[in-house]
Amino acid sequence: MDLGAIHTPRLLLREWRDADVDAFTTMFSDPLVMEFLPAPQDRAAIDAIVGRVRDHFAKHGFGWWAAEVKATGQFIGFVGLAHVPFEAHFTPAVEIGWRLASVHWGKGYATEGAKAALDFGFTRLGLQEIVSFTVPANRRSWRVMQRIGMTHDEADDFDHPRLAEGDPLRRHVLHRISRRRWEEMSERH
Ligand SMILES: CC(C)(COP(=O)(O)OP(=O)(O)OC[C@H]1O[C@@H](n2cnc3c(N)ncnc32)[C@H](O)[C@@H]1OP(=O)(O)O)[C@@H](O)C(=O)NCCC(=O)NCCS
Repeated sequence: MDLGAIHTPRLLLREWRDADVDAFTTMFSDPLVMEFLPAPQDRAAIDAIVGRVRDHFAKHGFGWWAAEVKATGQFIGFVGLAHVPFEAHFTPAVEIGWRLASVHWGKGYATEGAKAALDFGFTRLGLQEIVSFTVPANRRSWRVMQRIGMTHDEADDFDHPRLAEGDPLRRHVLHRISRRRWEEMSERH
């Protein structure tokens, strides 16, 4: 299934190409990008991540889209939607997420891509709600969540079930946005 690419004013969100994988691998050695993310063991673990991303596209027609700057054709990371791959109090759910090479931070690319991904989720996929989660210290990611209209309720905070007890990245904050809120926000703009 292929539900197509997404165009925003400055970005093309598309399926991954083999050529993206090297640039994506480089992002794992950037301490800014990795500050709040669990580190993969080796290149095989990174290839496995990309394999899971591609499998998600093949199965569902959407996923973590590779983000390309239209003006340059450069791969800068990903923005997208994915089924949450573990059980928690808020699942089953579709999450929105993002990861950009740090030289491309501070330009509004994550927010621009995320708004288009929300639109895709609510209009094309017909979702009723989209969630997003991160560690409490990842304020940059929180800010993207809040800029696109997501809200946070402390009662939703949770321990990531795939991280061991005692892991400093285990505690997570959850943000949500309902279809209704998104429609109300879209009407206002
Ligand atoms: C989370 C992440 C994607 C946020 O990137 P970002 O560039 O800060 O976010 P945005 O794309 O929304 O950009 C917003 C910034 O661009 C600025 N900006 C500049 N030009 C802009 C424009 N044309 N439009 C909008 N914002 C613009 C904004 O003022 C804002 O600046 P600020 O951070 O100083 O307030 C990035 O930090 C990242 O990849 N982190 C590592 C991976 C990660 O942690 N992912 C989340 C895991 S849950």
